[in-house]
Amino acid sequence: MVYRSQFVGFGGYLPKRIITNDELSLTVDTSDAWIRERTGIKQRHIVSEGETCVSMAVEAAKQAILYARLDVQDIDAIVVATCTPDKVFPSTAVEVQKELHIKNAFGFDVSSACSGFVFGLSVANNFIRCGQAKNVLLIGSEVYSRILDWNDRRTCVLFGDGAGAVVLSRINTEAENGILDVYLHTDGQYSDLLYVKGIPSQAKDKYSIHMNGPEVFRHAVSKLSEVVEEALKDHHMTYRDIDWLVPHQANLRIILRMGAKVKLPPERVIMTVDRHANTSAASIPLALNEAVRDNRIKKGDLMVIEAFGGGLSWGSALVRL
Ligand code: UT7
Repeated sequence: MVYRSQFVGFGGYLPKRIITNDELSLTVDTSDAWIRERTGIKQRHIVSEGETCVSMAVEAAKQAILYARLDVQDIDAIVVATCTPDKVFPSTAVEVQKELHIKNAFGFDVSSACSGFVFGLSVANNFIRCGQAKNVLLIGSEVYSRILDWNDRRTCVLFGDGAGAVVLSRINTEAENGILDVYLHTDGQYSDLLYVKGIPSQAKDKYSIHMNGPEVFRHAVSKLSEVVEEALKDHHMTYRDIDWLVPHQANLRIILRMGAKVKLPPERVIMTVDRHANTSAASIPLALNEAVRDNRIKKGDLMVIEAFGGGLSWGSALVRL
């Protein structure tokens, strides 16, 4: 028997400290006007003492499990998408397991930069579909403030910290409901367009993020268009079938272009980049959490999720809530 999986819980956590564009422009040669115009970002949340990849993941996970009306012991797999873990090992997932006293689960991390949530979604969905898990806790948690060079205006203005979580559960349905499909791609020949040299255990100045912004932008727009087309075509759907676009939040200009591409007005595109900046693997679950809790995305709605990031890596998912 082939099972299906469905989102049944949502949660999010954003660090308390907010850094505005104006505040950044006091320490680096930039301006609120430039950042807003080129990215749509107005502010970002950045961790303070005591806020970590694990602590944010735990808070987001608690909310998602509560929303799903499950007990922590119902969770049988934990997948954390992150490329900014607190430790090289053990995984963030097992630290979350420890903090939440989840006894009957296995857990591990997935690393695929800003596409991490979609890659994790594929893993979680496959565990459920093949019968290996019933309730999967999937988290995206990132502390990009750790891997930023705060003197590099080309990158430090773009990112923020945060965590988002979902619970996916097995559903018994013959209908086209839940996670309909996930589509994944990578192209390693472009690995030098967006990367972090070294590993976090090295000296800080050796592992900051490097990005060829305009080239990444160009690839993002074309690859995201292709992977959304691929999903719709595979399911014999058209743009008219989509109720919501839930994109990775890197740049408002990319998000709006993708909205226009799928012929959805801006109010049908979930946007958080203005307030959260780019939280990498956390951006989609944070956006989902907002849009489900404020009743924009409702039961039965069809959404297209899409993400693009270092690798290069990109993917999409078709989901009927
Ligand atoms: O999430 C993973 C995927 N990431 C993305 O999808 C990001 C894709 N790329 C982008 O979003 C954009 O390329 C950026 C927002 C990163 C940059 O915007 P851009 O319009 O492509 O600017 P640019 O890099 O071409 O730079 C234009 C100018 C340059 O000055 P000159 O050489 O023309 O004098 C930059 O030095 O803007 C300058 N600049 C800045 N000026 C003020 C770059 N960053 C800043 C800054 N403040 N923060």
